[in-house]
Amino acid sequence: MDFIPKDEISESFIQCVQSGLIEKGLDTTLIFYDFDFLTSRINALKAAFPANTMHTVAIKANPLIKILEKIINTDIGVEAASEGELFLAEKSGFHPSRIVFDSPAKTRNEILLALSKNIHINADSFMELKRIAELREQINTSSKIGLRINPQVGYGTITATSVAGNYSKFGVPIKEYRKEIIESFEKYEWLTGLHIHIGSQGCSMGMLLTGFEEILQLIIEIENRINRKLLFIDIGGGLPVSYDHNQEPSKIFKYGAKIQELLQKYQHAEILLITEFGRYLHANSGYTISMVEYAKQYIESNTLIIHVGADLFLRECLNPGQWLHKFILLDKNGIIKSGEKKLKYNIAGPLCFAGDIIARDIELPIAEEGDYLVIYDTGGYTFGMWSKYVSRMFPKTILKTGNTFEIIRNREKPEDIYSFWSG
Ligand code: LLP
Repeated sequence: MDFIPKDEISESFIQCVQSGLIEKGLDTTLIFYDFDFLTSRINALKAAFPANTMHTVAIKANPLIKILEKIINTDIGVEAASEGELFLAEKSGFHPSRIVFDSPAKTRNEILLALSKNIHINADSFMELKRIAELREQINTSSKIGLRINPQVGYGTITATSVAGNYSKFGVPIKEYRKEIIESFEKYEWLTGLHIHIGSQGCSMGMLLTGFEEILQLIIEIENRINRKLLFIDIGGGLPVSYDHNQEPSKIFKYGAKIQELLQKYQHAEILLITEFGRYLHANSGYTISMVEYAKQYIESNTLIIHVGADLFLRECLNPGQWLHKFILLDKNGIIKSGEKKLKYNIAGPLCFAGDIIARDIELPIAEEGDYLVIYDTGGYTFGMWSKYVSRMFPKTILKTGNTFEIIRNREKPEDIYSFWSG
């Protein structure tokens, strides 16, 4: 299954209203997440990659604790990119050996913390390697350490999420620093692997594979020089997903097969692979339903005012045209609206700025106050990027597993907003 079927969305909504999980009038927005869908993606990922792969999921894509806690049972790990995410990972029960710590801004304290818990660290720069070298002197550790390389394969179609162009704030640029990269493996015998991440959405599978091949060639050069085998390659995440449902869904099996082919070609089939997917696992596994508060029908334009905007859909609002979600409309009872007559609507959020528009010119059946708009594929990089602007309250979040629904995060209340701003 590539996407959650619309009938299932409507039925889930109706069922949650009937069982009282959704309180009409109070729950103006709902986030739904389907755990079985996530499991199917995790299983596909496991089947597509070699057995000696450690899969981790990027916490930033979806930091909801209940989901992290359930992910543990699927036997994959997590990629953490801040002290906060390290804490979430451990509190949710991930064993330190299943945590990979990335970030371009690791403080000395954070590095020390990760070393003390034997957590895998990918250093982002030579400066960070130097810090790790100093801190390793102070502590006994078995943390695996990798170095992030920018393979400089070019920019994808979305600049803000492309991190392997000629310039990137991440990683050591391979073209200019190949020699120094190799030398650092000579210098630090505890440096045992390489890390790359090409970008998130907007970078084609071809780009990801070019980056991987660059790294394999580099590994061979390093190994020849230092006369020891490296232990791992962390390929990051970045497999794009289809938002408008017109693009071909990502072919995880094709990607996995190509990776295996390249490993064979460069005689590295034995090396440990690490992956850090976020979007591929999460994005299509969730959707958002927001009540139409006002349907503004003017001569020149029609606008639906709903209850989420740039607070949940930052990229969609800031980079219109690049994140084309699919929408459907439910009536006030949760039944899919069809109707012959359709209008084009701008989908606007509740925030106080003109750019708070998730999508423009979306053709929908005639909408009215009290309908519910479904925004597809919001399981990744939406609530993870939640903004408190205009002190809006985070929506109730419902998890579906099999035929059971549970609230995994309550709707925020005005007091929660007060405590956030009062500290
Ligand atoms: N590994 C590293 C080091 C990353 O920086 C990321 C994402 C991932 C893995 C996971 O990438 P994925 O498989 O999810 O594409 N909507 C956000 C996306 C930023 C991506 C950040 N890094 C944004 O627009 O800022």
